[in-house]
Amino acid sequence: MTRSAELFDRAKAVLPGGVNSPVRAFRAVGGTPFFVAQAHGACLTDVDGATYLDYVCSWGPLILGHAHPAVLDAIRHAAERGWSYGAPCPAEVELAELVRQRMPAVEMVRFVNSGTEATMAAVRLARAATQRDVILKFEGCYHGHADSFLVKAGSGVATLGLPDSPGVPGSLAQLTVTVPFNDLSAVEALFARRGKQIAAVIVEPYVGNAGFIPPEPGFHPALRALCDRHGSLLIFDEVMTGFRVAPGGAQERLGVRPDLTTLGKIIGGGMPVGAYGGRADLMGMVAPEGPVYQAGTLSGNPVAMAAGLATLRETERPGFYDALEQRTARLVAGIGDAARRHGVPASGGHAGSLWGVYLTAGATHHGHSRRRAGAPGRTRGRRVHRLTRRRRRAVRHGRRERGADRLHPGRRVVDRCPGYGRPARRPARWLPERASRRCLRRERHREPLRDGGRPPLPWPRQRGAGRLRADPAEPGAGGELPRGRAGR
Ligand SMILES: Cc1ncc(COP(=O)(O)O)c(C=O)c1O
Repeated sequence: MTRSAELFDRAKAVLPGGVNSPVRAFRAVGGTPFFVAQAHGACLTDVDGATYLDYVCSWGPLILGHAHPAVLDAIRHAAERGWSYGAPCPAEVELAELVRQRMPAVEMVRFVNSGTEATMAAVRLARAATQRDVILKFEGCYHGHADSFLVKAGSGVATLGLPDSPGVPGSLAQLTVTVPFNDLSAVEALFARRGKQIAAVIVEPYVGNAGFIPPEPGFHPALRALCDRHGSLLIFDEVMTGFRVAPGGAQERLGVRPDLTTLGKIIGGGMPVGAYGGRADLMGMVAPEGPVYQAGTLSGNPVAMAAGLATLRETERPGFYDALEQRTARLVAGIGDAARRHGVPASGGHAGSLWGVYLTAGATHHGHSRRRAGAPGRTRGRRVHRLTRRRRRAVRHGRRERGADRLHPGRRVVDRCPGYGRPARRPARWLPERASRRCLRRERHREPLRDGGRPPLPWPRQRGAGRLRADPAEPGAGGELPRGRAGR
């Protein structure tokens, strides 16, 4: 029995499903989750000594990779000065100013501890500001696990929501109306019927939680115009796209100014940080300045703020986003080429380093049609997960493979993406060993970035590096997340 399997058995006795967030249990793809011992740069080593190339990167926050030296330094320095004050600290102000500089629509911001907290608070603020109750969201978009978002569509295109989890009151779910993403006529029809009740439209500007779905040209400007016409607020949920698809997030890339923006992931550089912000007149309604209550014992935590600041500052290096874009394009094209060579239907796309590949033919622009096309994709997704894991690539699992690539360490890691390059003729174990040893060597003696800004870093030698073992047995595990719902 592997150490991961042993830990998973112990975990199942004390943690529901053995994990602290559902997808980590691998139910959708089968197999036993690996338990991580350490992670550096592009690599992640499990407690059994196997090292993986990590394409998950903590589901998005680690745009610089694991344990990036600049972030590590910032965390160390901050922690040395104490790690929670319950009082304001300078880093909160600095990070808020940086966010406003990168996203001018975020005139004021409130830091919280997760993306879920951010979206939940933004919706409360929108309801208070408009004195309306109905929230419009899109099928396939995930906005965290707050009650108002655990809602699935009923039948028909624009319907009242139904609870998607026991414990969500039906009366609350009914206040969330769901329409298909990119279906402007459904949105217009809904506004025509219920425009006066809609407090806010909340949207992932590029859908990253139902695979990757880009908006159709004109979709977001039309949402903006509809909201303006009907007195509703537009909330961009940029928890995933923020500082990823462009320096100023999707709002910069799309040229649309939302009223409120929610942030998470990269803004904390891997520490638990979320944020919501937007128009100063709206944010002025938040306590203590206004009556809309929202608070947090650990909000604006000095260590988390320092990690976020260091991460964002690193992304300001010249050429950072261009390189990210190019490498992701190469990665997605490579996977597509490999699929074609093997006669596997696949389609994919990307924006910045947000990318997705579907193991089904033909592009779609709505979350719901993806789901209809899901069955063959799901089976293939499981196989891809199993095979990439055997080759020591940690990829996002599930039928909606999507990734959050990051800049470092660059092209050579992209070239070792799952399935990229020629089909392997050698035994499976050859590939990971070669890839990971090189990867670790590179991480330990990091090469300067192209702009010459970073000196090589002596990384501590990792235990287990290069001693790769055969894959543990992967007994199948049943179960599947409810459709349309993600969970980390
Ligand atoms: C777009 C979006 N919004 C909100 C959330 C929730 O964030 P968190 O998991 O930090 O609560 C996520 C999580 O992946 C997300 O992708």
